[in-house]
Amino acid sequence: MSELNNNFKSKKILIDSKNFDDAAIFKINDNKAIIQTVDFFTPIVDDPFSFGEIAAANSLSDIYAMGGKPLFALNIVAFPKNLNKDILVNILKGGESKCSEAKIPILGGHSIYDDEPKYGLVVTGEIKPNEIISNDNAKIDESIVLTKPIGTGIISTAIKKDVINKKNMDLAISIMKDLNSKSSELMKKYNASAATDVTGYGLVGHLIEMAKGSKLTAKIKFNKINFIDGVKNLVEKNIVPNGTKRNLEFYKSSMIYKSKLTHNDKLLLCDSQTSGGLLISIPKKNVSSFINECNKSSLYNAVEIGYFTNLNENKFLIIE
Ligand code: CO
Ligand code: CO
Repeated sequence: MSELNNNFKSKKILIDSKNFDDAAIFKINDNKAIIQTVDFFTPIVDDPFSFGEIAAANSLSDIYAMGGKPLFALNIVAFPKNLNKDILVNILKGGESKCSEAKIPILGGHSIYDDEPKYGLVVTGEIKPNEIISNDNAKIDESIVLTKPIGTGIISTAIKKDVINKKNMDLAISIMKDLNSKSSELMKKYNASAATDVTGYGLVGHLIEMAKGSKLTAKIKFNKINFIDGVKNLVEKNIVPNGTKRNLEFYKSSMIYKSKLTHNDKLLLCDSQTSGGLLISIPKKNVSSFINECNKSSLYNAVEIGYFTNLNENKFLIIE
């Protein structure tokens, strides 16, 4: 496989899985490339329609994170033989409604029987080869902006354990189902040089991958970061997904905590996200206009959380 990739590399393969980027990009000609991604997972909320919306928004996100334009999608479905088919119908309706919001059709898909339901999309889009926003091109002194608050992993765990109030749950669900399309448009308008979406590796993991790829160190301030309401309390009650704990362990050698952060603060920063926001490296002079436009009629706030600086003793992230 990798030998084949190497043969193509110079000509056709613009982005593959080697650099932890979001989607694959394959060049057609100098003006056009295909961008494609696939994502699916098990239900993280009880309502089937909402689950469909979140899964679709999450799948589309990898296209938006690179500045691509989605064109069409295919469904991926796993569903138990003995479960009420109305549930499946509603999951698919949720996916459809997100795709229509993204102005793309779902043209087909594939389903299998399985013990646990699973849903997601293959999304195909287009992008101009010279307009790709990869995760490894951040520039020194650029601002780091995070567009959605953190905490969906902790909230999903609380939903599973049935220890969350409805208000905080509904807020988290609206955040997860919100498309990253608008911030994607705006990051192109304001000349972002690198971006990714925050998902399984958490804010810490995705930021470290960005810094490592760009051969820089990211410096961020803990008290600039927005967390979803209720998340801090849940961590104090030890409601933390295993993925979040794994992230904390896995990335600790690549980073430095400078301020007096507690173990719980560190867990919050490492929380494994579903359908998280974009993490964007953007020229300092553009950051306030970008944020202002992002936050116009949005239910959450994009915030500047830090900046990129020279690589500092192979620590890719410093948190103050
Ligand atoms: Co991604
Ligand atoms: Co993904």
